[in-house]
Amino acid sequence: MKIAVIGTGYVGLVVGVCLADLGNEVFCIDVDESKIESLKKGVLPIYEPGLKDILDINVKENRLFFTTDLRMGIKMSEVIFIAVGTPPGANHEADVTAVFNVAKVIGECMNGYKIIVNKSTVPVGTGEMVKDVIAKNMKGDYEFDVVSNPEFLREGTAVKDFTSPDRIIIGAETERAKKIMQRIYRGIVRTGKPLMITDIKSAEMIKYASNSFLATKISFINEIARLCEKVGADVKEVAKGMGLDQRIGPRFLQAGIGFGGSCFPKDVRALIQKGKENNIEFKIINAVETVNYEQRFIPVKKLKEIFGSLNNLRIGIWGLSFKPKTDDMREAPSITIINELKKEGADVIAFDPIAKENAKKILKDIEYGNTPYETAKNCNALLLLTEWNEFRELDMIKVKDLMKNPVLIDCRNIYEKEELIKMGFTYRGIGR
Ligand code: UDX
Repeated sequence: MKIAVIGTGYVGLVVGVCLADLGNEVFCIDVDESKIESLKKGVLPIYEPGLKDILDINVKENRLFFTTDLRMGIKMSEVIFIAVGTPPGANHEADVTAVFNVAKVIGECMNGYKIIVNKSTVPVGTGEMVKDVIAKNMKGDYEFDVVSNPEFLREGTAVKDFTSPDRIIIGAETERAKKIMQRIYRGIVRTGKPLMITDIKSAEMIKYASNSFLATKISFINEIARLCEKVGADVKEVAKGMGLDQRIGPRFLQAGIGFGGSCFPKDVRALIQKGKENNIEFKIINAVETVNYEQRFIPVKKLKEIFGSLNNLRIGIWGLSFKPKTDDMREAPSITIINELKKEGADVIAFDPIAKENAKKILKDIEYGNTPYETAKNCNALLLLTEWNEFRELDMIKVKDLMKNPVLIDCRNIYEKEELIKMGFTYRGIGR
């Protein structure tokens, strides 16, 4: 199929490249000239393991093109994926302005039957509105279908999540649209991955409900962690025991400093807002957000329990990105935590294997170390904030000898507590 993917961000670029890899001819379109220019040179604007190789292959085989020419891309395509940003609006509702702007141009460029696919995370009901915008701007009477196809891509594993998803969700109204979407994804469905077809509104709701449930699991285990600390239980053991119940499952039960990223915080708030607009108060999901916000202040509390005042202390930070294998700093807990440390008068030096450049744009008044060891040098304490593999096999004796005080706050519970205590560290985990 000839496909246009509008938006070359964390979602759009992965979708475009992987759709090309399924054999389609794909135009990846963006308004940002510099992004398109760098993509044409094979330079990716995002860090996503494995994406570059697939991009290079499909460019070489003339299946993948990059352009800023939105109108040409629309006219040439049979299927158009809208993958533009839907950032939080004034009161946290998803701002779908960019989606509607694209829908307007699609209407103006209609020149035959097309399917318009909402890949961006959009509030329930957006599909209907996109349909109206296209119909209103059409110059002529063309048939088209709008489809909801929410993404479930996790940063750092987005290529795998596209090619080997737990499920593909399609919200569509006509047989014609359902057939074409099944054709697009048949390369994946053939490997046994379920493709569920439902109505547009339910497909839109599945996305919000799924992300909010995953966020609920995280805040749930973070609350359990608080009691574990008080009573002397180990939340890692508790999560392991819980996860053996098939109905609970072991994933998304790692206690830590809460969820960040561009999706969970945004989607949870957008769902709460959508509820408000419909006079529904989400009591559980409101609590999920509150617990998540509080979680970020726990590491500083722990440091103050140990040192009293943090004034003039030197604190080392291992990990800045909101999760491993990404350079994304959006809503990263490290931002709140480092700002709190600065407020307490501490000096901060931070290391991250990949996110340093993005972090420098946000966290300007801190030092940056080039290695974990350099970052630990002369520190009164170390905070492990992101569970990058780089931090799992360090020479911790060497780290201890480099530090002024061997204090380690393991905010993702990646170390063996007893081991570090035996080495002479003052160790604090989350919930253990
Ligand atoms: C998420 C959803 O998983 C994905 O389906 C959706 O399409 C986009 O949002 P992402 O935000 O990239 O993906 O990362 P994810 O791996 O889900 O982690 C989200 C946050 O939760 C991270 O900050 C992570 O540190 C945190 N987390 C995750 C925990 O604190 N504990 C866990 O057990 C799992």
